[in-house]
Amino acid sequence: NDLGVVAVGFSGGQCKQGVEAAPMALIESGLLDQLHEDLGYDVHFDNAVHNYADIIPANDPDHRGMKKPRAVSAVTEKLSQQVYDHAKEGKMVLTLGGDHSIAIGTISGTAKAIRERLGRELAVIWVDAHADINLPEDSPSGNIHGMPVAFLTALATEEKKDIFGWLSKEHLVNVNKLVYIGLRDVDRGEKRILKEHGIKAFSMHDIDRHGIGRVVEMALAHVGNDTPIHLSFDVDALDPQWAPSTGTPVRGGLTLREGDFIAECVHQTGNLIAMDLVEVNPSLEAMGANETIRTGCSLVRSALGDTLL
Ligand code: ARG
Ligand code: MN
Ligand code: MN
Ligand code: MN
Repeated sequence: NDLGVVAVGFSGGQCKQGVEAAPMALIESGLLDQLHEDLGYDVHFDNAVHNYADIIPANDPDHRGMKKPRAVSAVTEKLSQQVYDHAKEGKMVLTLGGDHSIAIGTISGTAKAIRERLGRELAVIWVDAHADINLPEDSPSGNIHGMPVAFLTALATEEKKDIFGWLSKEHLVNVNKLVYIGLRDVDRGEKRILKEHGIKAFSMHDIDRHGIGRVVEMALAHVGNDTPIHLSFDVDALDPQWAPSTGTPVRGGLTLREGDFIAECVHQTGNLIAMDLVEVNPSLEAMGANETIRTGCSLVRSALGDTLL
């Protein structure tokens, strides 16, 4: 029951300071102790929140509209290796972000490890208000946290080695192994991509219509019942009522229970191999920071096997 934990204090995939403080806030609130004492994991943690200061280039002009492309590329390349190192040994991997651009590192790392260890393709369950699948040219913001899925599926590619050119075939995820839950703020270009590629996506409308139980069932059916799952959980999937301290909150989101329920069901498949928790920003909404941190801890515990009874 080994769990590798990577704490990523990186906020360069978007413009607001503060997300880099999330891993420490989550850990200080007791998350890793709970995973060990209550859930019985052997926690492998290097006791460091990585900020990757030593590998972030000083000169990093915009490229194809992307902001800080070399910084995000360097950090995610390094993170990819860290996550791979855990996953290739068969450990479950928990990554505490950081903004959602870090998923370029985490998912590429697990995708490669799973291919090598099991000869299998990875499935990704992306729980988020946003699709994060913008092509650089279509992004309304230039923030790379809105693009990770595009790079991970090779819908966006870049030759430059220092701007995601390090991503190779074994790092990638197939669009038909991807499923979204919780969407409600999807940009025009993203909607076109989802349609064009027939990417499975359950919006808040779908959840209202079918209920969370049926939606999770359909999402897991799409993934298939013996496919390794990487759960990438953006805390902004939850309604700001439950997660106010996040950089791009969108009203009309999941309740805390709906978020936990998704995580619990993914755990129950027995196929979860990695989880990211991202976009907790304790410096926003001074009042709501503690609530958001509690929410983040709850989502992680649920995904890692906490049960109500
Ligand atoms: N779609 C918007 C953009 O491209 C917002 C993305 C928000 N992403 C996130 N990981 N919170 O900028
Ligand atoms: Mn989001
Ligand atoms: Mn928008
Ligand atoms: Mn996101």
